[in-house]
Amino acid sequence: MKIGIIGAGSIGLLAGAYLGEHHEVHMFVKSEEQRSALAAEGITCGEFPCPVPVYAHLVTEMKEGYDLWLVTIKQHAMDGFLEQDLPADAPYVFLQNGMGHLEKLAQSGLRSCVGVVEHGALAKGPNEVVHKGKGNIQIAVYRRMEPAHGQALSKELHTAHFPVFFKADYEPMLKSKLIINTVINPLTALFSQPNHSILTNPSIHELARLLCEEACSVLGLSFFDEWERVKTIAETTGENHSSMLRDITEHRLTEVDSISGYILDHGKIPLPYHHFVVHAIHALEYERGVRKR
Ligand code: PAF
Repeated sequence: MKIGIIGAGSIGLLAGAYLGEHHEVHMFVKSEEQRSALAAEGITCGEFPCPVPVYAHLVTEMKEGYDLWLVTIKQHAMDGFLEQDLPADAPYVFLQNGMGHLEKLAQSGLRSCVGVVEHGALAKGPNEVVHKGKGNIQIAVYRRMEPAHGQALSKELHTAHFPVFFKADYEPMLKSKLIINTVINPLTALFSQPNHSILTNPSIHELARLLCEEACSVLGLSFFDEWERVKTIAETTGENHSSMLRDITEHRLTEVDSISGYILDHGKIPLPYHHFVVHAIHALEYERGVRKR
């Protein structure tokens, strides 16, 4: 397949390297510096003996003629992305944390799947990524696509080293990932701790449990099941720094609004712990000069 990958952060680079082994991969990025590094040197990933060659373009150069678009940009870049005049001859797979993008996506009229990523990945430079935890990608059709088409796409993308699974229903898939992110990400970012602190620090553990309870009540999920899953992910990704901690450390806007903010916006009862973490993360963003107010 001729695949366009939008965004070359850790997940975009990881997907580019693995998919580039079997498909014609074109990376679409914002900066000329990153474009030229990718075009000249390909993607370096420790799992591969040599860099994986890819084509590279600026994101403003997207055009028709591709078989699939994989969108790996962060939530806060989604509004601007969807406002562009986007090619509509191929389906899109959107791989964002949180659920804040769904409404806009529905309005866009694009043929779309949404997905969740359970890999640990760390970008080390404009064209280098470290695969820190082997997981999988799950996708489900969202708008204007038949399930059979989504399933066929997942089969074409799937390999033993880079598994891509098809899910029949997008909502439970996104909700379960949202619970993981709304519990682990803000706490690890606020306390500058790796993911296992959810298990090893008794006070962070208690805050995590309370966030999980609030989120499960809003999303109508079983606390018992979800809390077990959160603890399992905190253990399996133990040494990882969550994406929110990395955003804070590297002075970038986080995805807190479409993760914890999504829970807060959809709650019908007071959610004091989510209220606190949204404002606490905003405060860190403000102090780092990436949030205006
Ligand atoms: O956002 C992240 O960092 C990841 O989704 C997760 C699962 C919390 C692991 O670090």
